[in-house]
Amino acid sequence: MELIETRSLSKRFGQHIAVDGVNLSIKEGVCTALLGPNGAGKTTTLNLLTGLITPSTGTIEFDQSYQGDRRQYIGYLPQYPKFYEWMTGEEFVIFAGELAGLTSKQAKQRTKEMLDLVGLNDNSKKKIAGYSGGMKQRLGIAQALVHEPKLVILDEPVSALDPLGRKEVLEMMKRLKEHTSILFSTHVLHDAEQVSDDIFIMKDGKVVIEGSLTHLQNTYQKPTFFIEAEDKLEGWVETIKGQDWIDQYSLDGKNLTLTVDNVEEARKRILKDPMFQELEIYKFEVAKTSLEDLFMKVTES
Ligand SMILES: Nc1ncnc2c1ncn2[C@@H]1O[C@H](COP(=O)(O)OP(=O)(O)O)[C@@H](O)[C@H]1O
Ligand SMILES: [Mg+2]
Repeated sequence: MELIETRSLSKRFGQHIAVDGVNLSIKEGVCTALLGPNGAGKTTTLNLLTGLITPSTGTIEFDQSYQGDRRQYIGYLPQYPKFYEWMTGEEFVIFAGELAGLTSKQAKQRTKEMLDLVGLNDNSKKKIAGYSGGMKQRLGIAQALVHEPKLVILDEPVSALDPLGRKEVLEMMKRLKEHTSILFSTHVLHDAEQVSDDIFIMKDGKVVIEGSLTHLQNTYQKPTFFIEAEDKLEGWVETIKGQDWIDQYSLDGKNLTLTVDNVEEARKRILKDPMFQELEIYKFEVAKTSLEDLFMKVTES
């Protein structure tokens, strides 16, 4: 089985359903993104997985080779982490390690390794109060990793950062992927595209689209023709629909959107079609749909 599988996971707060029948499958050794606009239910889902809150209905199953309290296998960085700013970075991570049950010797050793991994070794003796946003986030990640979890869960790890801090943390996550499985949430598609292998898109408590990044790109990033004519295009569309060079089409009177697999072949087919040549065309445009288009479409209310 996968590292974590949830079945019909739901969480209700009073009358409000924050998470509504979610089936997640989180694989070991990959980076999974939970993507969705504010209020989609990402934080609630992550809190359910970490065990901070209990489901209203549904189940969460952890790989059976990991026995006992699942919290020992999970590292967690909340959306709004709090630090003891008077501590140094090193002191803070050692403290987190000891809280997680490591001996003081183990905690010191792991802290050194983790601060190295997140690129904070040079600043480990500085007080956290003097850290930048990106440094604090990386410290938060080091703290989440100190007890060698199987999965590290990061809730919006880059959302509060400026572009430089964002880049810093995303680059770090790419390195981290080599060592541990990551599950992180974000409301920005671009972040998910940069580091994740698998993506679940949430909206109103439900997963609306899921798959590997490559699968989503292959499925949704297709060449598209936008055609606008003086006359209604229905007659012509009737003659071409169902032909194998067309993937999908949507017609709105004088506006036609045509998604195809092979742009060259499609261009020839269209332009050489005698019936098409008779039409008075205003616009003939080729572009590629992006995951952004898809994300906007599924998440707009
Ligand atoms: N403790 C709570 N009590 C009541 N409503 C909550 C609570 N936590 C979250 N919600 C509501 O659940 C929905 C999902 O919230 P959240 O999981 O924080 O979304 P996201 O992290 O995707 O922005 C929101 O409408 C939010 O207002
Ligand atoms: Mg959130």
